[in-house]
Amino acid sequence: MQKRGDNEAGVPDEGAPAVPVNPENSENSETSENSENSKSPGHAETTGISRRALFGGALASAAAGAAIGIVATGASDQSANAATAGATPNDSTIEFYGQHQAGIQTPPQDHLVLMVFDVTTTSASELQVMLAKWSAAMAQYSKGVPVGAVEPARDQAVPGDTGEAYGMGPNALTLTLGFAPSMFDDRFGWAKYKPAALTDIPAFASDALTPEFTGGDICIQACAADPQVAYHAIRNLARMARTTATTRWTVQGFGRASAGQGQTTPRNLMGFKDGTRNITTDADLTQFVWVGDEADQKWMVGGSYLVARKIHVLIETWDADYIADQHAVFGRTKSVGAPLTGTAEFDTPDFAAKGADGALVIPADAHVALAAHENNGGIKILRRGYNFTDGIDDVGRLDAGLMFLSYQKDPAQFVTIQSRLGTSDRLNEYIRHVGSGVFAVPPGLSAAGDYYGKAFFA
Ligand code: HEM
Repeated sequence: MQKRGDNEAGVPDEGAPAVPVNPENSENSETSENSENSKSPGHAETTGISRRALFGGALASAAAGAAIGIVATGASDQSANAATAGATPNDSTIEFYGQHQAGIQTPPQDHLVLMVFDVTTTSASELQVMLAKWSAAMAQYSKGVPVGAVEPARDQAVPGDTGEAYGMGPNALTLTLGFAPSMFDDRFGWAKYKPAALTDIPAFASDALTPEFTGGDICIQACAADPQVAYHAIRNLARMARTTATTRWTVQGFGRASAGQGQTTPRNLMGFKDGTRNITTDADLTQFVWVGDEADQKWMVGGSYLVARKIHVLIETWDADYIADQHAVFGRTKSVGAPLTGTAEFDTPDFAAKGADGALVIPADAHVALAAHENNGGIKILRRGYNFTDGIDDVGRLDAGLMFLSYQKDPAQFVTIQSRLGTSDRLNEYIRHVGSGVFAVPPGLSAAGDYYGKAFFA
């Protein structure tokens, strides 16, 4: 039985005082980061995070002070434990702190876990504590460092970290957080911070949205080179928030279906190269992805907006389609990925070119013809989608598709494109949009002590 204060995640139990009552946590919360480790034979090495490191000395609220008991297992023993964990460590690390959140411009890693949460507390201070704890924990997970003891020294202590990623290394983990429009209602006093651009995505022709994959308050996108590392981070963040937020919907993506700078183009489950004409240059990121000084809410400068659409692919129907039609659906060839007006993948499509029969070579209702910036007033979006499967549906069909994720400086960019796609895309015969969410993704955190939503609690 867990007793109050025995939880070594440094997460105060419900009703616990605002400062850790666990002597081990208290001790560790006063040490400086990575300086004083307490070791017990046969137990995980623990590293305390200082009060100053976590909150930068700026967090005055007693409630937020409750979060300071996070106890980390030291990074130094990660590779030493790789053999125990039975996994190949991957030391590739993506910096968590910076001007922009990681996981947007970052060339897509191979795996995704997207989790959308409902905030259940009505207390602003509990929300503040959760966001502060999450932010500090996300920084540690990004370094491959557990939060809390994997193997506590005391027999009666519950492990703070669940342990399944122990010794596996950071695996290029990125954690990207966004706030849905519902966060700016009257619950927490955030209404005055709501950006004008953050409104629910309108309904489109051909939508087939289901409540179980729609809405929610906060999303976290975890991407990593290893699926277990991504899952571990999300699982532990959910666990950490258990008295404040509940999980609403989640999608696990098993293969990237988009390309970033310097990456070869992967394929989606329809067998086509996906991400050929994606945003890769800094100039396009500035123009189309990062919110700039024009923002009505200055806290969003350097941030972006995430649109998440869970899109089911009617796999069996698609697999019965003949190749010429598959080409016409996308306006590209399957193996090379060339536009139908070219021969190589990166040839520029010619949307006006006509064949001998006088018909457009790339049909006007082909997916790329409707989505291309040339035909949308110059609008571009950064696509960062993943293939997913949920196994089989209740009548035995393959249940799979594309977890479409796009980042843009204004969700209106997505809305413009999807308005056309939803109405006329040849692809609609083979897909169903079953889930949807839109999130304001704040800029990156500056350093330890900074946390998501901090400005809203001033
Ligand atoms: C299951 C759903 C979808 C599939 C399988 C899919 C697949 C593809 C493929 C194969 C391409 C061509 C290669 C490329 O340039 O990346 C493409 C291009 C594109 N898609 Fe999608 N897509 C889907 C949904 C969407 C949605 C919902 C949007 C936005 C509302 C979108 C926006 C775009 C854009 C902007 C391009 C680039 C067009 C160009 O500039 O030529 N796609 N998509």
